[in-house]
Amino acid sequence: MIKRYPKRAKLRDGTQVSLRLMVKKDQHALYEFFQRVPKEDRLFLRDDVSKPATIQSWVDELDYERVLPLLALVDGRVVGDATLHRRRLGWTRHLGKVRLVIDSRYRQKGLGSLLVKELLEIGKGLKLERLVVELTGGQQAALAAFRHLGFERAAVLYRHVKDRAGRPQDLVILIRDLEEEPEPISF
Ligand SMILES: CC(C)(COP(=O)(O)OP(=O)(O)OC[C@H]1O[C@@H](n2cnc3c(N)ncnc32)[C@H](O)[C@@H]1OP(=O)(O)O)[C@@H](O)C(=O)NCCC(=O)NCCS
Repeated sequence: MIKRYPKRAKLRDGTQVSLRLMVKKDQHALYEFFQRVPKEDRLFLRDDVSKPATIQSWVDELDYERVLPLLALVDGRVVGDATLHRRRLGWTRHLGKVRLVIDSRYRQKGLGSLLVKELLEIGKGLKLERLVVELTGGQQAALAAFRHLGFERAAVLYRHVKDRAGRPQDLVILIRDLEEEPEPISF
């Protein structure tokens, strides 16, 4: 899986991006990337990415078996971050949770889809059975993007989480199965 990277790809507008796994020395570049993410998007992200301590903890705890962070870079600058979160043990060990953020200047060029497709392939390689995305009701673009990629809304927990401004938000759970549907049994 690690041997898949680095690799290069072209976005819809011709921009060349390189894809590779995050390493500890990306800490500063990643912090700068999240500083560029619009405040209104940061409101809905699970972690407070405006704090250097948040990025520091990701770097300190870097463990590809637990969280696989895939970066997209243009001229050495981070423009996209997609992560696949796994549990080694327990009843969710067959699941991968996906999180994704794209630099606003690189949106709607197919980069989000490209990174999610990479995680789909990685997930299959790791024998995961299902990918899960958790969004708030406020993340309309993300909802559209993941549905476009074959994720389906599985549940909505009304007013279950609070955004960074303290407002209650619905938590929307999207899933995409990685295994082929089993053949129907004929009698
Ligand atoms: C959601 C997000 C990752 C999409 O990234 P992207 O690179 O723009 O996605 P793509 O260009 O691959 O678009 C894929 C599909 O999503 C849909 N889509 C993307 N942006 C959209 C928007 N603003 N409104 C409606 N649909 C949108 C389209 O159907 C698009 O397909 P098309 O271009 O073939 O029509 C990006 O908007 C983002 O980083 N948002 C903020 C962070 C966030 O909400 N992350 C999700 C939390 S896990």
